[in-house]
Amino acid sequence: MPVTKVQPFVHADSELVKGWKNRIILHRFQLLIASSLILMIFLVLGIGLGVGLSCVGKVRCGSSSQCVSAMAQCDGTMDCENHEDELGCVRLSGRSSVLQVQKRGEWRTVCSEEWSNQLGISACKQLGYSRYVESSFISLTSIEQDLQTNLISINYSQAEVIKLQSAATFSKNHCNSGMVTTLRCIECGSRPQYKSRIVGGNISKPGQFPWQVSLHFQREHICGGSIVTSSWILTAAHCVFGFDNASLWTVHAGLTEQLINGARSLAVERIVRHAQYRQKELDYDVALMRLQEPLVFDGFVEPICLPNYGEEFTEGRMCWISGWGTTKENGESSVVLRSATIPLISTKTCNQADVYKGLISPWMICAGYLEGGIDACQGDSGGPLACEDSSVWKLVGVTSWGTGCAEVNKPGVYARVTKALSWIRLQIEREEV
Ligand SMILES: *[C@@H]1O[C@H](CO)[C@@H](O)[C@H](O)[C@H]1NC(C)=O
Ligand SMILES: *[C@@H]1O[C@H](CO)[C@@H](O)[C@H](O)[C@H]1NC(C)=O
Ligand SMILES: *[C@@H]1O[C@H](CO)[C@@H](O)[C@H](O)[C@H]1NC(C)=O
Repeated sequence: MPVTKVQPFVHADSELVKGWKNRIILHRFQLLIASSLILMIFLVLGIGLGVGLSCVGKVRCGSSSQCVSAMAQCDGTMDCENHEDELGCVRLSGRSSVLQVQKRGEWRTVCSEEWSNQLGISACKQLGYSRYVESSFISLTSIEQDLQTNLISINYSQAEVIKLQSAATFSKNHCNSGMVTTLRCIECGSRPQYKSRIVGGNISKPGQFPWQVSLHFQREHICGGSIVTSSWILTAAHCVFGFDNASLWTVHAGLTEQLINGARSLAVERIVRHAQYRQKELDYDVALMRLQEPLVFDGFVEPICLPNYGEEFTEGRMCWISGWGTTKENGESSVVLRSATIPLISTKTCNQADVYKGLISPWMICAGYLEGGIDACQGDSGGPLACEDSSVWKLVGVTSWGTGCAEVNKPGVYARVTKALSWIRLQIEREEV
């Protein structure tokens, strides 16, 4: 029975899911006829009005009905009414955060020649950051094979580059310098106030998980979340589903104990839930909260790094979960921030018949022990599944659901952040640019 790890509301009811599925099968025939009828009506209407039903061979502009050619995507000219065709044109890829620019619908790795800090600032803006830390260059041959083939350099002749894709000139198959560009926009994933020697149990120390926040709905802890930039918190869609009135939420950062006065409480300006999230399937279980005032990073409050595009996190790798969730199923939520280290589980293992039997989609990642015992539980939803990578912490998952808590063969299921990356970047870029 998939149960979201939120408290106290929204329990996905598997009987409902089953009932719904059965009804679908029962009425499949009628549905088939009905949907073909509807389809025909739409087709006739569509052809009649001269608009295609889908953007066949083309790309849709956001959620509007406008379509543009794939070649118009990231070509430096705004073709969509709301400029969606020029969003999401930059990404960081692979282990080393290699910069890639999309030009006319194709992703290309950026050579180091003619690169400058000014371009770095522009690139970070397009990634949704108002900050810029540094650019550095690494040998083309040291990066992942699939990032080595399609290359591009940026011709920086304009005084100020607005969008990288408009300055990207030629596609090429080698870099003159033999080097490619890597980028860092934000100091993230570090724990400057945490002394690892004092860890003694499962109660977290101040600064141990500085990116962890507590999300309060009407002054009560409901879910966890992770700081990804000074203005944005990543959480689970099911935490805010039906509760998207931003003024009823507050974000509490830099605390290990609930109820403590003085922890920074921040007002929420806007909540963005993934449009494809459905309560019954629990896929696309991510949402973003934009804060009214930006956070100040001080060691007890710090952002966690998002992983890069194409980064893999393999089975058996030990990562951390944290939260104020209940310490047993149907228990009360915890006053202190608790944490545990658990191994990642591959989707193949997690989809086995005796585990989740095919319920795990590409948008989910499992972590925990098949023998049970340690798991996230109610109230931990939305919080981080964080993995340390050469002393930089990366957000790999968002606590989503599970059957019970810590039961045998029922590990925790998390929204997979590498899948959600382009959605996250798009929401932030749209708002910040
Ligand atoms: C760079 O751009 C300028 C003007 O946009 C152009 O004149 C110049 O030929 C370009 N340089 C290269 C190497 O493409
Ligand atoms: C959100 O909640 C506030 C405070 O209760 C209320 O004043 C406001 O009308 C609500 N907004 C919406 C859109 O429901
Ligand atoms: C909790 O603390 C105990 C005692 O220090 C330790 O044996 C155990 O491994 C810890 N559990 C986790 C999940 O870190």
